[in-house]
Amino acid sequence: MFLHGTSRINEAGHLEIGGCDVTELKAEYGTPLYIMDEQLIRRRAREYVDAFTASGLGFQVAYASKAFSVMAMCRIADEEGLSLDVVSDGELYTALQAGFPAERIHFHGNNKTPDEIEMAISAGIGCFVVDNLVELRLLQAIAAGKGASVKILLRVTPGVEAHAHHAYASTGQTDSKFGFDIGNGSAFEAVRLASDQANLQLLGVHSHIGSQIFETEGFQLAVERIAEFTRKVKEELNIDFPVVNLGGGFGIRYVDGDTPLAVSEYVAAITDAVKTHFAGISDKLPEIWVEPGRSIVGDAGTTLYTVGTSKEIPGVRKYVAVDGGMTDNPRPALYESKYEAMLANRAKEANEEAVSIAGKCCESGDMLIWDVELPKVESGDLLAVACTGAYNYSMASNYNRIRRPAVVFVQNGHSDLVVRRESHQDIIANDVVPQRIAKQPVTK
Ligand code: LLP
Repeated sequence: MFLHGTSRINEAGHLEIGGCDVTELKAEYGTPLYIMDEQLIRRRAREYVDAFTASGLGFQVAYASKAFSVMAMCRIADEEGLSLDVVSDGELYTALQAGFPAERIHFHGNNKTPDEIEMAISAGIGCFVVDNLVELRLLQAIAAGKGASVKILLRVTPGVEAHAHHAYASTGQTDSKFGFDIGNGSAFEAVRLASDQANLQLLGVHSHIGSQIFETEGFQLAVERIAEFTRKVKEELNIDFPVVNLGGGFGIRYVDGDTPLAVSEYVAAITDAVKTHFAGISDKLPEIWVEPGRSIVGDAGTTLYTVGTSKEIPGVRKYVAVDGGMTDNPRPALYESKYEAMLANRAKEANEEAVSIAGKCCESGDMLIWDVELPKVESGDLLAVACTGAYNYSMASNYNRIRRPAVVFVQNGHSDLVVRRESHQDIIANDVVPQRIAKQPVTK
């Protein structure tokens, strides 16, 4: 397994992250356990801020909280000077409860409800990214009702198909549920309409072309298309766009063969393209906003499991089951995503067998990794799966009424619990049994 960030193998042959031996983390918190390398999260955040600062352009780096939205993460994003992208009242509530400054929050989503819009305007968030005309009218009406003036970006699809890891993660093409298409003229009409709304201030446009992208061409092409569009808007409507938001999608290394670029390379490609294509459209180059999610938290996360049962089918394969699975990491089942793993309590031992890691859900598709080389695996061993910081905890479920794991941040030899493990009580917390069929619990 590739060792990310502060991960290393210590003298005892145990995986250590943030100076914490994972066998001790297991003793303290149990498994499955999401372990987040705080120093690596902060390093990634700083790589973005430093690269944009070097470009000389105005910028905001908005952490896409959908990748991993918990209050402690919002605190780190705030401390590192990031803005925050939220997509629901739940993510917004999390951020506000964590004391995240509302004016640096951007609200996304293709179906914001009236209640969500109300809540966000009342909180005084910095910007709405408007997805469609229904939302535009609703937002204007609610803002007018509150006497508020609301900053907006319009989400556009620039017609770029990025090479994302799965078709479900591509969003910049014309046939997408998101945004106004530039190619068919609907984005232009939306600008005309938005600029006419008394309570909305149009700052510019937003595009997000996909996720887990390993090259710069898609971003550069998106910048070029948006610049052409901005020029047309300036020439025909005399409207300036002070902001261009280019979304997220910057790739990370999950397995050998993944070839992400350095954060600085993605940012330099974008800022250079902006300098080239936006020159002369307005007096000033636009501010560039981006929304990295996966690339801030993805490789900082490791999931620690305890090995339970195994089953060898002679001549076919050996299944090794862990105490988690698709409930804490649905990505292999959803996208056939690949992961690397190691025996975290015997990390110095040579690999001896190829095994397939199964989860504990009642479902054949609940497989985390096919054919991974490991030392001889025994019941009670600790299995670490790397690169689980993004879209794991945030997409976890209670399928089979399995309790969601705890999350700890580790740094400099210390661990802090940031999400406690769900209890049995949590599992039934929202259940209501109508009085007419109610019975006393079985307590034996
Ligand atoms: N901005 C917008 C508007 C987005 O829709 C997304 C991701 C991001 C930013 C952050 O993208 P990132 O930098 O994390 O690639 N659940 C899938 C990924 C879905 C991404 C959805 N939108 C996965 O597990 O791969």
